Order: sequence, then C-alpha cells, then structure tokens
Amino acid sequence: MAHLDQLAERLRNATSVTVLTGAGVSAASGIPTFRGSGGLWRNFSATDLATPRAFARDPVTVWEWYAWRREQVASCSPNAAHEVLARWTQRRNSWRVVTQNVDDLHIRAGTLDLVRLHGSIFDLRCWNHCDASPRSWRDDRVPFPEMPPRCSQCGGLARPGVVWFGESLDPADVKAADALTACDVFIAAGTSALVYPAAGFLLEASAHGAFTVELNTETTDATGSVDLAIRGPVEHTLAEVDALL
Ligand code: OAD
Repeated sequence: MAHLDQLAERLRNATSVTVLTGAGVSAASGIPTFRGSGGLWRNFSATDLATPRAFARDPVTVWEWYAWRREQVASCSPNAAHEVLARWTQRRNSWRVVTQNVDDLHIRAGTLDLVRLHGSIFDLRCWNHCDASPRSWRDDRVPFPEMPPRCSQCGGLARPGVVWFGESLDPADVKAADALTACDVFIAAGTSALVYPAAGFLLEASAHGAFTVELNTETTDATGSVDLAIRGPVEHTLAEVDALL
C-alpha cells in the first residue's frame, strides 16, 4: 500500500492523534529552519544568541536577532501544513498539536489547544523576575518602539518569552505533551528530532503502542525507528493525506 494511503487508513481508524511539529512545518511559509542548508544555526551561533548567558552579556545583540526574527514571522502566513493541522484540531477532540516552534503560525491558522514547548517569540518576560509583572506577556509590536524592550512594571530589561538552551521547559507544557504521547497515531512533522524532551516523545508514543510516523524532507535520527517515514515537504504530504480522509 502506498505510504500516503497507509497513513490515511491509520488516521481514519484513530481516535487520538498527536502531531509534534518543528521548524520544517513553517519552512514553506518562509521561516528558516535551525539546522540543514540555510538553517539559522549555520549562520548564527546558538550559544551567542539563545542562552541566558548570552543575554546577560549582550542583551542588545540578542534582542536585535529576535527583533529580526519577529519581523520575519510577522510578514509570513500559515501554509497548508498549518491549515490542515488546525482543521484536524477543530474537527476532532483528541487530535492535538504539540509544537517546538516559537512562531505563531499554528495559532494564526486556528489550531485549538496547542501545546507550545518552546514558548512564543511574541511573548516577553521580565529579565529580573520582578514581582509586579506577570510570568510573561504578549507584545506583538513590530518593530518595538524602544530597543531593547523593557518591563512595563519595573522598567528593567524584558527578555524574549522563549526557552533558551540550558533552560528548563515549563513543566506544565512537558506534562501536557507527555500525556499526548498516549495516542493511536503519533506524527513527528518537520523536526530534526534532536532536541529533548521533544525527541523522546516519539519513543514514548511507541512505548504506549502508538503507530509512529515521520514526515520530513530528509532522513533524521528518528527515521529508522518509526513505523512509517514519508519523505517530502510536509505541507504537501499533509494536504494529500487530508484529502484522502
Ligand atoms: P530543525 O531546524 O532542527 O529541523 C527542521 C527539520 O525540518 C529538518 O529535519 C528538515 O529536514 C525538515 N524540513 C525542512 N523543510 C521541510 C519541509 N518543507 N517539510 C518537511 N520537513 C522539512 O528544527 P526543529 O526540529 O524544530 O530550539 O528544532 C528543534 C529545536 O532546536 C528548535 O525549537 C530550536 C532549535 O534549536 C530552541 O531554540 C530552544
């Protein structure tokens, strides 16, 4: 049976479906991925830009990089992959999306109950953890009126509301994503499946008895261990599978 038909049949028979997404899902919208050709980590140093230590040393440079990415995201639109996944969450209660992406394209496409493991590029937090400010707040002004942006409560530096290397994920998000690995079909879409804990979710899903699927343009470390790997642009694969449902 052709791969797309096989996936469609699994989905037709599934009650619960979890889709873990990564940067590849937003690639067709024009947002660069992190790894691979043209990936952000080819041209920029993660340790100089995406760690608390880098921010403490040079907040202006870190903010300039995030401000540039915010501009990029603001000028992009959801693609067919975001749209198919949004429809799935709207039509089926137990079909859910967990994303590592900090862009807001799943939300703009209308995805319900999205679990955002790495936060949002449009959220800010007080760098000093001041008591008066909420844990994070949304500020989608592009560009910022003032650089670097400040905490409106204490006037100190604000920081991007994303998870940096060396930081822990929000335990509530990890718990929510963990729970979603107990599903009938688990799909890893457009992710290099290298960064934990997300990388471990495929294994957990498999241990729970889920049928595991990878949708990617390339081979990854996860390819050999999934039940079905479909090579190709995820925006095409999802649109084609959706049409078969
Ligand atoms: P990566 O850049 O590591 O991987 C993107 C994956 O998408 C690669 O495996 C590509 O082959 C694949 N890809 C690219 N275009 C595609 C397309 N149109 N269709 C299908 N697949 C495509 O991005 P992530 O896996 O999301 O974390 O990276 C995980 C985390 O590492 C990110 O959230 C970020 C990063 O460093 C932090 O910044 C904390």
